Amino acid sequence: MSDINDLMQEWINLAPVWIKEVREGKNSVRKGLLDPVMLDACGNVEGLSILDCGCGEGRFCRMLVERGAKYVLGLDLCKRMIEAAQELQSGRDEYRVHDVQDLGFIEDETFDIVVSYLNQCDLPDFKANNKEVFRVLKRGGKFIIANLHPMRSAIGSWYRNDKGEKLHVILDNYFDESERHWKMLGVEFTNFHRTLSTYLNNFIETGFIVKKIIEPTVTADKLKEYPDLDDELRVPNFIVYVLEKP
Ligand SMILES: C[S@@+](CC[C@H](N)C(=O)[O-])C[C@H]1O[C@@H](n2cnc3c(N)ncnc32)[C@H](O)[C@@H]1O
Repeated sequence: MSDINDLMQEWINLAPVWIKEVREGKNSVRKGLLDPVMLDACGNVEGLSILDCGCGEGRFCRMLVERGAKYVLGLDLCKRMIEAAQELQSGRDEYRVHDVQDLGFIEDETFDIVVSYLNQCDLPDFKANNKEVFRVLKRGGKFIIANLHPMRSAIGSWYRNDKGEKLHVILDNYFDESERHWKMLGVEFTNFHRTLSTYLNNFIETGFIVKKIIEPTVTADKLKEYPDLDDELRVPNFIVYVLEKP
């Protein structure tokens, strides 16, 4: 299995193209599909303290600050991502290079909300992240996780006909919980596939209440704006879990 330094190196390799795509590209998956769901799950964030695990170049932290959060801490393993986030820092947001599988520097019951926006699939030990998030959340606080849908992280390719048209998505090796190797924006990287029950059972074993599960699909309005999201009408690519610490 890849160690954390190999995984970090992949994100260092990806960072320049990733940051460019997020800031200058169309970014359909986030703007057209996941942002509305994630913001709705966060609710009114005015005056709240929020932790973003795997914040990347900080876009969702900035959105939370714009919506009135009192303090947002973004953590990411990749120094280049954190430097990019710091370039656009506005005062109520702060960024640190840190592995979210160990939040030892944060006191118990510090945050009202913790967000994990497409980060748990990158973690070799997502259970450690759940345990740590549970500890640093206040009672009644929410942990909001957007992740690759387990049906899509098992194996990712479309089966096409001779004309190259998409016929259906292949689902195979679902019960093989292990690394998967992909290419994103031309750069190779690793993430981790786990079944739906593995995720849900660990949320429950950690002590969370599962408040809501959302399988985002695209609305007619958003599809007009982001026609490249048409696959989202056919297969669930992402899943959002809304958890609460009792
Ligand atoms: C798919 S990106 C998502 C970034 C951001 N949340 C967004 O939606 O734009 C995943 C991020 O997780 C970070 N990451 C991967 N493993 C991590 C770890 N163990 N601790 C903290 N961050 C990690 C990567 O460096 C990368 O920035």
